[in-house]
Amino acid sequence: MVGSRVQLAKAGREYKACCPFHTEKTASFWVSPEKQFYHCFGCGAHGTALRFLMEYDHLAFPEAVEELAGRLGLPVPNEGGGDAARPRDASLYELMARVAQFYAETLKRDERAERYLTQRGLTAEIVQRFGIGYAPDAWNALLKRFGPGERDRQTLGELGLIIERERSQVRDGEQHYDRFRDRIMFPIRDSRGRAIAFGGRVIDRGEPKYLNSPETALFHKGRELYGLYETRLARSSLKRLLVVEGYMDVVRLHQAGIAYAVATLGTATTAEHLMRIFRLVREVVFAFDGDRAGRGAAWRALQHALPQAREGREIRFLFLPEGHDPDTLVGEEGREAFEKRLESALPLSEYLVRELSAQCDIAHADGRARFAEAARPLVHKVPEGVYRELLLTRVAEVVGLAPQRLQALWAGGEPSAQAVQAPARRRPIRSAGRGSLVRQAVVRLVRFPATAGSVTDAERAGIDDCTEPGADLLRALLDDLRERPLKVSAQVLERWVAKPGGEHLGRLLEREEVLDEEAAAAVELRAVLVKLADTVLERRLDALLAKQAATGGLSEAELLEFQRFMNRKADRSR
Ligand code: CTP
Ligand code: MN
Repeated sequence: MVGSRVQLAKAGREYKACCPFHTEKTASFWVSPEKQFYHCFGCGAHGTALRFLMEYDHLAFPEAVEELAGRLGLPVPNEGGGDAARPRDASLYELMARVAQFYAETLKRDERAERYLTQRGLTAEIVQRFGIGYAPDAWNALLKRFGPGERDRQTLGELGLIIERERSQVRDGEQHYDRFRDRIMFPIRDSRGRAIAFGGRVIDRGEPKYLNSPETALFHKGRELYGLYETRLARSSLKRLLVVEGYMDVVRLHQAGIAYAVATLGTATTAEHLMRIFRLVREVVFAFDGDRAGRGAAWRALQHALPQAREGREIRFLFLPEGHDPDTLVGEEGREAFEKRLESALPLSEYLVRELSAQCDIAHADGRARFAEAARPLVHKVPEGVYRELLLTRVAEVVGLAPQRLQALWAGGEPSAQAVQAPARRRPIRSAGRGSLVRQAVVRLVRFPATAGSVTDAERAGIDDCTEPGADLLRALLDDLRERPLKVSAQVLERWVAKPGGEHLGRLLEREEVLDEEAAAAVELRAVLVKLADTVLERRLDALLAKQAATGGLSEAELLEFQRFMNRKADRSR
């Protein structure tokens, strides 16, 4: 598997190569096929086959599992759901691929469509890389070619490629017509490069300018990012993603060498988009047109980005000059100048401050008070941690108060004497976000025992096989509190005083100076449990995949176990 991506030379029972994760002249990257493991003595990169796919191909965990399992000949349930739907989905993907191919071929035979793309500055190479095509100017091109039978017709319908006519509108006995007619077709691909939907643009003028596939079994637009697959293919050590608004923007940017541009599909950036993005990179820049619509979209993106903001992640906003979009701009000024703009994009905190201060007149005290009020819900969307502290500090600076004072005001309480007297003293960094996952979960349970009630059975089951240190205590505590709920920490300590692990609980609680919000703690607790379940899953899957690779076969029981893991994963991603 590594061998198909890196040039390996045999060295005894192992293989070696120049490390793909750092630059080097002599080979210090070792691969052991036997152990299904790689290790670089130069930069310390190491891991299993699964880890390799995640790092090298920039695949997220579930996708890496699918890819590897697929290669090893293991049956994989589909992205969208359980295995019951699988044979059906397979034929949907297959038809989609044939339709994309048809559009691409039609483009080559249509001079007007080709001329249009040339005129928009696209090269033949980029048209091919993105699989761009053309839907002919006819009501029944797809119907004729792909839908002679009742069943095919139904499949085309499920894919959103044909539309059913009203009864009164039926013409020549034909009940359906092609959705896309006389349009430039942009295939939208999933993370494995399969066409799952289309965006179609009119040539020259017409309404609507862009027509997109509806939501189907394959396509959920709040999840997909146009250009993500192509970005991964370009794979020039992916560090950042640039999120733009349009199809043409993505294509033109890639052509100009900015091969890390993606677009949301005619929707605002969703939380799901952001989660996908941050599984791949730590840095994201959103580019928006400088007009009013662009500013509105930017503000919505900020709202969704706040819950994802944390230390180690960089979220920035770029506003383009009015009348420009990335397509026209990169065409005019080229890659270097455009990337310079990216460097100067506004960090999230600065954008937030700038936008709010434009709405409130911060030259005056009541303006600053309004500013503080407006900032409050936004700052609270950021998870507790260093990033939130920094954002709070920045907002406090504008308001003209010490951060502690502002926080006390927000909390509705009187600012403490200490806060007023010593505004410059830094608060200790909050610690609830740190420590092992198990510790994070336990801390929250002890501090707010009622949060146990919000944990679902599935979340609890996810940590059944967890072997992290302290997992036994976590399970025991969680089960106990789910069965016999308690309200306050003191009761927990009392009940646990004589139980195994009980002595840790008091100490844990003492060291935490942080948590002050039960609702947030409940959400965080559940998120931590899900993360723990993921680590369990990852370890076990690693083991199963390594065995399959080494021996070429899993027992019936192991296959079933594999299926069960995959289904659980699929449930989760829904
Ligand atoms: N969009 C859409 N439906 C529309 C208009 C726009 O889905 N009726 C989405 C498309 O993804 C489009 C993006 O919003 O790419 C941006 O729209 P717009 O700025 O109007 O178009 P451009 O991307 O600039 O398209 P072009 O350069 O081809 O005119
Ligand atoms: Mn444009």
